[in-house]
Amino acid sequence: MVLRLFSSIYVVVIAARLVCCMQCDIKSERRVDCFPESYPLSRDECVKRGCCYSPYKGNDDVPWCFFPQNYSYAYILTDLKEVSYGYEGLLKIPNDTVAFPVKTLPVLKLSVFLELEDRVRFKITDVNDNRYQVPLDVPKISTKTRDMTKYSLQFSAINETFNLKIIRTDTNVAVFDTSIAPILYGDQFLQISTHLPSTNIYGLGERHDSLRVDVNWKRIAFWAADRPPKVPETENLYGDHPFYVAVEPDGKSHGVFFLNSNAKEAVLQPTPALTWRSIGGIMDFYVFLGPNPEQVVQQYTAVVGKSFMPPLWSLGYHLCRWGYKTSNNTLGYVERMRKAKIPQDVQWNDIDYMDRKMDFTYDKNNFDTLPNLVDNLHSHGQHYVMIIDPGISDQPDKGSYPPYDDAIEMDVVMKDHTNSKPIRGKVWPGEVIFPDFTNPNIYPYWTKQLQRYHSQVPFDGVWIDMNEVSNFMDGSPENCYQNNTYDYPPYTPRVSGGKLFSRTVCPSSLQYISSNYDVHSLTGLFEMKATSHALKVIRKKRPFVISRSTFPSAGVYGGHWTGDVSSKWSHLKVSVAGILSFNMFGIPMVGADICGFGGSTNEELCIRWTQLGAFYPFSRNHNDIAGSPQAPVDLSEKAQNIIRDALIVRYTLLPYLYTLFYHSHVNGSTVARPLFFEFPSDSNTYSIDTQFMWGSGILISPVLDEGAVTVSAYLPAGYWYGPSGNSSDHEPIHSKGEVIKVSAPIEEIPIHIRGGHVIPCGNYNGATVTNTSNDFILLAVSDDAGKAMGHLYWDDGDSLDTLSNGNYVLLKFTMQNNTLVTSIQEGSKLIASKMRLMLVNLYGVNCVPKSVEANGVSVPFDYGPFEVAVQLPYLAMDEIIIKWTC
Ligand code: GLC
Repeated sequence: MVLRLFSSIYVVVIAARLVCCMQCDIKSERRVDCFPESYPLSRDECVKRGCCYSPYKGNDDVPWCFFPQNYSYAYILTDLKEVSYGYEGLLKIPNDTVAFPVKTLPVLKLSVFLELEDRVRFKITDVNDNRYQVPLDVPKISTKTRDMTKYSLQFSAINETFNLKIIRTDTNVAVFDTSIAPILYGDQFLQISTHLPSTNIYGLGERHDSLRVDVNWKRIAFWAADRPPKVPETENLYGDHPFYVAVEPDGKSHGVFFLNSNAKEAVLQPTPALTWRSIGGIMDFYVFLGPNPEQVVQQYTAVVGKSFMPPLWSLGYHLCRWGYKTSNNTLGYVERMRKAKIPQDVQWNDIDYMDRKMDFTYDKNNFDTLPNLVDNLHSHGQHYVMIIDPGISDQPDKGSYPPYDDAIEMDVVMKDHTNSKPIRGKVWPGEVIFPDFTNPNIYPYWTKQLQRYHSQVPFDGVWIDMNEVSNFMDGSPENCYQNNTYDYPPYTPRVSGGKLFSRTVCPSSLQYISSNYDVHSLTGLFEMKATSHALKVIRKKRPFVISRSTFPSAGVYGGHWTGDVSSKWSHLKVSVAGILSFNMFGIPMVGADICGFGGSTNEELCIRWTQLGAFYPFSRNHNDIAGSPQAPVDLSEKAQNIIRDALIVRYTLLPYLYTLFYHSHVNGSTVARPLFFEFPSDSNTYSIDTQFMWGSGILISPVLDEGAVTVSAYLPAGYWYGPSGNSSDHEPIHSKGEVIKVSAPIEEIPIHIRGGHVIPCGNYNGATVTNTSNDFILLAVSDDAGKAMGHLYWDDGDSLDTLSNGNYVLLKFTMQNNTLVTSIQEGSKLIASKMRLMLVNLYGVNCVPKSVEANGVSVPFDYGPFEVAVQLPYLAMDEIIIKWTC
């Protein structure tokens, strides 16, 4: 008692002494919050932390309690030496620490890994290195691999307040600079701030918001949560992606990845700066030097893993809804789609197929014909995907429900904080237990369940939902534990619901790797891994997994849909930014529920959404149980015609889309990308999130507003060709970087092909499934110099390991000097020789050709005002030379 009294007086005295010398004259936009818990607070509370107190009127977001320039409790750098991998240093607290909001650790170890010339990693851990670290399989680099050329490091002087700057060498821009505020490091509270070189910051998800992050005191929480997205969005969503891409003032880009899975938040402020707060783990940062945004993503995916190679069929159109009610009704939709000749590759079922909503069962009354439905799909070259939720029902009698009995017997479930019994929650089937996907035994368990079900219903892909994990109650029936600092941590980031266990299990639950407090946001990722593994074992073909919750590296195992968006124009609009952000996160297979999930759509919205959705990398129409029917065949004939046309454009472009997925798989690049990825020095592109690109060759400018029949599309400088629809917009445009008004009647979505690109297309032949025929068309659009190039990746579309087995081909197309050449860049000549080129459309040929020859033989051609269509006698694509003379 006496001691406590004494020490608190001591703290106040010290603090009072410090206040007199503190440098508090700091501009409002530069103030870094010293009291993130809650306002209002008293001067005393602030001063006890050694911080400056100065009320600010006019903007509630500006902190009143903020760090002085010379914070007395900051860590100082006491030692720094060069080591094999880079640098190692020690950080110490000079004064006995104040409570902030937990006791800080006295000594920390700093390790800087000079991994590559464009990648640096630094970690700050406790000296004994025994804190929880994210179990992600990142490259292990123990020796300095290259000299730093693209960046240099600046450390604070020995015995001075610690700070670290990572500086881009050629421009002297600090891409990471902690000098704005001291770092804080307690067991359940880590904080680090960095100056940002510009306000052009992207990423930081999962958000349902603009593409570019608002730096005006935006506070973003990271903690996987089941919550329908809103517009405007203010809370954390299903996934956790602590990664951003920043564009520097001169157009160069870098990326920063905070490898940390605990609950955390990022606060952006206008100076600009960013403060990370996490309530566990360690500080583990990667900085990627780009210098262009696409390279930043490639450098990021080189760490977290490159995306899976999807089966070709998964790039087709998917139809789903919650509430088909019966398998016959589901089949009815498939049949009506076929009859209407609307492309559809995949039919899905939601939880209504299950017996009492229990995983790995089907309702033998209403869905009694489910196996026949799947057979029927397969016999038409179509595929079937169904939902699985993580919660395993504990309701059936023991011995009657193997998924539960096996989970208990194999001991693969999440346990309560005493590790004595499974933790329970409530989800669709009622009370459930939760598999622990971090347990290595989950692989045999999960594979066994899926295998058993597959032997009854031979599904092709798995949709994993509710894996944040979602829970219809806060915590468990036994409650979370008031005096457990995992359930009630000293500081809780501003997560939705205010508690870590809002609509999820208690963070004190124990899992194989650590407590749920540490690994909660990894649940989706680990379930994706187990599901992808099981699918490989069962089908021996490429796995297809779509997950609601994701974490860095999820793209290696599957894709994502953006959750329970509403059937509203505002949600349609924001979906573009969502798709682009997930591409930056290394999860290119992503889409939003076409026509919207929650609420009821209307015909115009559904048409516009399908036109945009035809350009989502993952294209699925999905509807809530209460929503009015929204499948294409539920709409008017006119709508069906428009939707068919939009999907035919997608199906025609599938070889190009598939090739982009190949590039993503091999090089870690994006599939759908923001304009600034292609035009990083054009600052007009930095705020654009209503248009996007497929690779570097196609620009999509969707209609996102009710009633609109034109789009104001920004065309970056260069030559663009608009081949879409029937309108007169075909005239090529030489843009100087300008906004043009494109007509977009309800039948059309404006797209433009960029000069300099050869786009490989399929020959859409009326089939309603992905065209695996080997007939191709090329759209070759020249740039100002008459040149263009492109690639086509092709294989059988579904086998595992086609790349490592050499069962693929990568063709290269080069156009210059009135000649277009197709050649093999890599892979099998046999495959290429079976691929046949039937048509080439040349755009931007500025003469009327007198003759065209293919492999030395004269071939017929048509000349329109803007294009030359060359008919080819189905030439084998391993080597073709097409020449035209003017
Ligand atoms: C969740 C999913 C949604 C699904 C529903 C029923 O809300 O996000 O897509 O339809 O659960 O399974």
